[in-house]
Parts: sequence; structure tokens; C-alpha cells
Amino acid sequence: MYSKNLLGRSLLEEAIVTENLSKMYGQIWAVKDLNLRVHAGELFGFLGPNGAGKTTTIRMLTTITKPTYGRAFVDGFNVQEKPEMVRKAIGVMQQHLSLDRDLTVRENMELRARIHHLSADERKKRVEELLDYVGLVEYADRTVDELSGGFQRRAMIACSLIHRPKILFLDEPTVGLDAHTRRRMWDLIRRLNADGVTIFLTTHYIEEAEALCQRVGIIHKGQLIAIGSPIELRGKIGLFTVVMVTEGGKFAYKYFHDRAEASKYVQKLSNSNSIKSVVIRDSNLEDVFIELTGGEVIGE
Ligand SMILES: Nc1ncnc2c1ncn2[C@@H]1O[C@H](COP(=O)(O)OP(=O)(O)OP(=O)(O)O)[C@@H](O)[C@H]1O
Ligand SMILES: [Mg+2]
Repeated sequence: MYSKNLLGRSLLEEAIVTENLSKMYGQIWAVKDLNLRVHAGELFGFLGPNGAGKTTTIRMLTTITKPTYGRAFVDGFNVQEKPEMVRKAIGVMQQHLSLDRDLTVRENMELRARIHHLSADERKKRVEELLDYVGLVEYADRTVDELSGGFQRRAMIACSLIHRPKILFLDEPTVGLDAHTRRRMWDLIRRLNADGVTIFLTTHYIEEAEALCQRVGIIHKGQLIAIGSPIELRGKIGLFTVVMVTEGGKFAYKYFHDRAEASKYVQKLSNSNSIKSVVIRDSNLEDVFIELTGGEVIGE
């Protein structure tokens, strides 16, 4: 999976390591005892519902917020002891629009390049290169305000890449985008990853985590409740789900590791009066979440 690591780093190197990373706001643990490793070159997804602690985690990893306790290492640097080294290694696309709306895309990128002390020549070259990379050449001289949501996100990604970061944090990069635009954003994220950038992205879209990420961590009420590849996570509860609709219209689920076992169970149900309909399908990450949280759902 990591055979083409264009950055030439050790394949076993960890891009992100957290040790009991925790943050308390008032009486609430926004993140509690987070232990997690993201490998260099990985496309990692942090999946969880609203308020789960995704942004707080990103804010601690990107040196914006201090942990209450615990440690984090990004590109090998302790975020609290070497924040300037961490900031050199990372790019961040925040959850909310972080561009100047009245400036053009190119001006926003120029500004970002200056912040990172790129020379005039480098700036010019890098801006043009990135405009092309994210597909915004024709829109470079439009103000951010004039762009659609999808193009604004692309401009934000371009800005976050200006200093060639090794690790890119994307906080809900596709929220609010239509299905077509979301897929184009996925293509861009995949291309970045294929070009050697380690990606840590947050999402509350199950299908996004499943379609895009090599490994997924599920966060719920500040705690990591599961981590692994989508298939490993599905395997935790069982790869097959029997979905039952009761007479009262309620859904119930039962999980099986084996399709034959699931079929047997369905046959037994055929005599039941209380079940209106029943179907077997592949388990998904939503099932994993529901099962591990005792019945909650992730969706909006
Ligand atoms: N600056 C803050 N002050 C007080 N409480 C905060 C602050 N930031 C976050 N919280 C609280 O911490 C918890 C986690 O919030 P966080 O923004 O990290 O969640 P999230 O997973 O990013 O949610 P969303 O999907 O809505 O973006 C929530 O209960 C939130 O209200
Ligand atoms: Mg958030």
C-alpha cells in the first residue's frame, strides 16, 4: 500500500502519535485519553458525530490548542515542545472558511506563501503549480466570494499546501458539498495521498470514511471507540447484518460473521409475527458505530 512513498521516508515511520491526549473544556472532556498512531503515507479518517471531539483533536495536533494532559507527536516532534517544527511539517484545512473572501484565489495563495517566507520566484512558481493541481487555473482571479463551496474548499486546500507539508489535516473537507463535487474532492484527496502526503481527515459521513480511508478511527464523546481498516472494523461486529423491521416500524439489527448463519437466522424469523420484513446486507461502519455505542447514529 505504501510502496510509492515519494517523500522517501521510512515506511514504518509514524506521522502522528498520541499518548493519552486529552482536552477538557469546563466540565466536558472534549477528548479523553486518545491513543492513536497514523503511519506516514496513510490516508487516515477520524469519524464521529457532531461534538465528538474531532476538531479539538486537530486543534491539539496542529499546535492551536494545548492539551489538558497527554502528549502528541507530529512528524516526530512533540507538539508542545517543538510547535514551530510541527507547523513546518503540516498543512491544515479548517472546518470553516479560512480565506479572505474579498481577495482572489491567487491573492489568498500569495498571502499564504508570504507567511511561509517563500521567495518571490518560489511564490510565483508554487502558486501556478498548485492552481493547476487543484484545478483552479481559470478561477485564480475571482474573489473567494464568487466561488462555489466546492471551489472554495479547493482553494483552501491549495493554500494549505503552499509550503509542501508532509502531513495534511482536513477538517470535514466535504461537508455541505453535493455528491458530484464531493467525489471530485475525494479524487483530489486520493491524488494528494498518492503523491506522498499523509492525510488526517475528519468526517461524519460514513460512506466517506469507507470509500476514502485506509484506516478509520471512530470517536464518540471524546473517546476512541474503534480503530482499523473499514473491513477490520466491520469484522469486529460481523460482516453481515440482518435488518429487521418490526410491526411498529422500528428497525432492529443482528450481526453475523458468516452469511450462512445469517440466512439460518432469517429462516427462523419467517414464522415470526412481530417482524414485518427482513433483509441481509453487508455490514457498514454505521452498524459498527451503532453497535459500539449502544444504538446511537452518526448522521446529521
Ligand atoms: N472552545 C471551546 N470551548 C468550550 N467547549 C468547546 C470548545 N471547543 C469545543 N468544545 C466542546 O468540546 C466538544 C467537542 O467539540 P469538537 O468541536 O471537537 O467536536 P467535533 O467532533 O469537531 O464536532 P463537529 O462535527 O460538530 O465539528 C463539544 O462538546 C464542544 O461543545
Ligand atoms: Mg468539528
